[in-house]
Formats: sequence, C-alpha cells, structure tokens
Amino acid sequence: MTDSAQNAAGPGIDPWEAAYLRFETPEEEIRKFTERLHRLGVGEWPRETNVVELFCGRGNGLHALARLGFRNIEGVDLSPRLLAEYTGEARCIAGDCRKLPFADNSRDAAIVQGGLHHLLVLPDDLERVFAELRRVLRPQGRVMFVEPWLTLFLRVVHGVAQHSLARRMSVKLEALAAMIENERQTYENWLGRPEEISQVTRRYFQPEHESFAWGKWNFVGRVRP
Ligand SMILES: C[S@@+](CC[C@H](N)C(=O)[O-])C[C@H]1O[C@@H](n2cnc3c(N)ncnc32)[C@H](O)[C@@H]1O
Repeated sequence: MTDSAQNAAGPGIDPWEAAYLRFETPEEEIRKFTERLHRLGVGEWPRETNVVELFCGRGNGLHALARLGFRNIEGVDLSPRLLAEYTGEARCIAGDCRKLPFADNSRDAAIVQGGLHHLLVLPDDLERVFAELRRVLRPQGRVMFVEPWLTLFLRVVHGVAQHSLARRMSVKLEALAAMIENERQTYENWLGRPEEISQVTRRYFQPEHESFAWGKWNFVGRVRP
C-alpha cells in the first residue's frame, strides 16, 4: 500500500476504495459513463429494458443509465459501503456477482464497467459470473463489458505512473497508481490472460461490437442460444 493511500484510507476504510474515491469526482465519472454508454450503443436500447449493473460500486454507472432515460435499473456490488454512497432510484443489492440474487430468465440486460478484473480466480470466477448471467438473462439478453486491457496506451500509463515525480504532480495519476498498487494481484492476473478471457467471453456471448482502445476492452453482445 502506498503512504498516500494509507493516509487517505483512515482506520477501517479499504485503501483501494479510498483511492477509487479520489480518482474521479462522481460527476466526472457519471459523464464518462454516459458518453461511453452512448458510444457503445446502449443509448439505442429500448428504454423499458431492464438493465442490471454488476460490480456497480458507488452507482455512478446507474446514474448514467438513468440520465439516458432507463428507469428499470438495478445494481449489485460486494461493498455495502460503496453502495451506501448511491442516492439514485435504482434497486441496489449487496451481493457476490458469482452468485446473482435473481431468478432464472428474469432480466433483459447486464453491464459491467471495471468489475471483472477484480475477480480473484481466473478463469473460474469469470466462468461463474458469465454462467450466472446466462442463467439470469432472458434469451437474446444483452451484455456490455468495459474492462482494462494491456494496449500500448495502458503500457505508457503504467510507465508514467511508476515515477514518483509524475505521481506528485497529478492527483489522478497518484490515485490510479494507488488503485493499481492495492489491486495488483487481480489487475495483473486479468491483464496477463487476454486469450483466456476472450475465449471464455465468446463461449457465453455472441459479440455485436468489440474494440480495444485507450487501455480498455469494450464488448457488447448477446447471450448465446
Ligand atoms: C472498479 S469498481 C467498479 C466501479 C463501478 N463499476 C462504478 O461504476 O462505479 C469494482 C467493484 O467491484 C466490486 N466487487 C469485487 N468483487 C466483487 C464480486 N465478487 N461481486 C460483486 N462485486 C464485487 C467492488 O466492491 C468494487 O465496487
């Protein structure tokens, strides 16, 4: 853990969560998510679509969905503390995305923004989440995933973030470095397994859009029959 993360965390607060809260203001994150949902075509989904956001954290993705006009939205996250920061209309449930608290064939769509790379055991945990999505989503159910990916851009960001001077000059870089430091095990495990991740994803979902840009993997698709 970095000193700064430790200081900001304080007693009883997870240092990764503290860095995450420093990384972006809620408004910055909601704007980023809203623009992303538009860009990846979620803005064209019917507004009555029932969308679940997995790994929803403090719920800024849910705010973005609400800004696009979705009213039937739900979130699931392991952290009651992050969920408690959410103030919107969505129904939020504290739970493990490897065992979703929903009935079979009961939801239309699911999105994940930066949650899958927090899974501890790959590829097994990823299989568990995807199997749960296949169980819970209706036939032809929609999915959207955005996760870190080791593109050239991300390699450059990692290189810059290693320099203490650069970290001191940018709050954002310092928070990013602290987040990476505190999630190193799952983050590096995720970034080091691109083939496996692609294979597992395509086994469960039919891609409609896939792109790799600015250190992110963007996947939009449907549950395979
Ligand atoms: C980077 S955050 C996601 C941010 C979030 N998507 C947002 O929009 O604010 C990763 C989240 O994954 C959650 N998490 C980690 N493992 C989980 C699991 N097995 N089930 C549910 N949530 C989990 C953490 O509590 C954390 O909130």
